[in-house]
Amino acid sequence: MDSLSQDQQEPLLDYELVVADNLKTEDSSQAERARGSRRASRPKLLSPLTCLFILCAVIAVTDLCALAYMQHLWKTSYAAPGLPDLEFADPYIGLDDLYRSGLVHSPSIPPIVLAPRVCAPVFRDQPDRLTPVGTHDMWSDTWGTTSPNERHLHVNATTNTVIQFRTIDYGMEDCVLTLDLPARGQALEGNSTFLLYPASQFDVFLADTSKMLKPKTLSWRTKPSSLSFFATFTPHAGERTFISRFRCPRGSLFTFEFACADQSPCLVHTWSSQNYTWGVNIYQHQTV
Ligand SMILES: *[C@@H]1O[C@H](CO)[C@@H](O)[C@H](O)[C@H]1NC(C)=O
Ligand SMILES: *[C@@H]1O[C@H](CO)[C@@H](O)[C@H](O)[C@H]1NC(C)=O
Ligand SMILES: *[C@@H]1O[C@H](CO)[C@@H](O)[C@H](O)[C@H]1NC(C)=O
Repeated sequence: MDSLSQDQQEPLLDYELVVADNLKTEDSSQAERARGSRRASRPKLLSPLTCLFILCAVIAVTDLCALAYMQHLWKTSYAAPGLPDLEFADPYIGLDDLYRSGLVHSPSIPPIVLAPRVCAPVFRDQPDRLTPVGTHDMWSDTWGTTSPNERHLHVNATTNTVIQFRTIDYGMEDCVLTLDLPARGQALEGNSTFLLYPASQFDVFLADTSKMLKPKTLSWRTKPSSLSFFATFTPHAGERTFISRFRCPRGSLFTFEFACADQSPCLVHTWSSQNYTWGVNIYQHQTV
């Protein structure tokens, strides 16, 4: 039994050895193959520089996409409606009802002067010339550039002045358009000159527009075009000349154009200033 088992064991051992040998060669060939494939894939590995480059490219593309998206948002969601198109909301809430109820009586308010928002000469002989803006702006080391809110009225045979008002006050809806002129020889603030041909006659036209004027783009060509005759008048130096009386609802824009009447030789040239509202003004009278 023992010898038999010995006999049977020997070939078994041999077999095991062979198997073990085979296994060893298989192992080594697999390892060889693995080593070979590792060697083959090594050139495909990215160098740190390439990785950095790809990272930068990804970041740059993400940034560009974000910028493009932000620009899209600016143009759509955040697009500011042009200032001239904004609604002029009524801040006098409930006052209509209050006065209609008859429970209160309004105080008596003297006429208030309303200065123009825009007073801009335009030139027929230079139709593309923009109206001068900021002619009297000053530089001060303390305040920087200051705009003294001066308005230039200049009308001659080839120059008209476009003037825009906005009536804002409640219950002051009876308006009188006037031309206020200094006396002859009166010195104006800021060395401005006052000129008026005697007997100059002027026509006033009312523009049919509810748009705010943009002085920076205003010229003879771009001024409001649909005009209707409004009034004619002859001013005198040192006086307040009445031009016309009209109803002026709160919150409305009135755009006038002043021109020489009938090509008669005429000239008016003056500046409003910090202390004097020389030029065209509106006096608003109480209506409540
Ligand atoms: C009217 O005034 C403008 C601007 O100062 C000037 O260029 C033009 O020659 C004047 N026109 C007349 C007819 O005097
Ligand atoms: C007015 O003119 C005088 C003399 O020409 C000058 O000294 C003065 O600074 C001027 N004033 C203004 C406000 O321009
Ligand atoms: C406006 O009037 C005040 C007070 O009368 C004066 O002090 C000031 O100098 C005047 N402004 C100008 C620009 O002349």
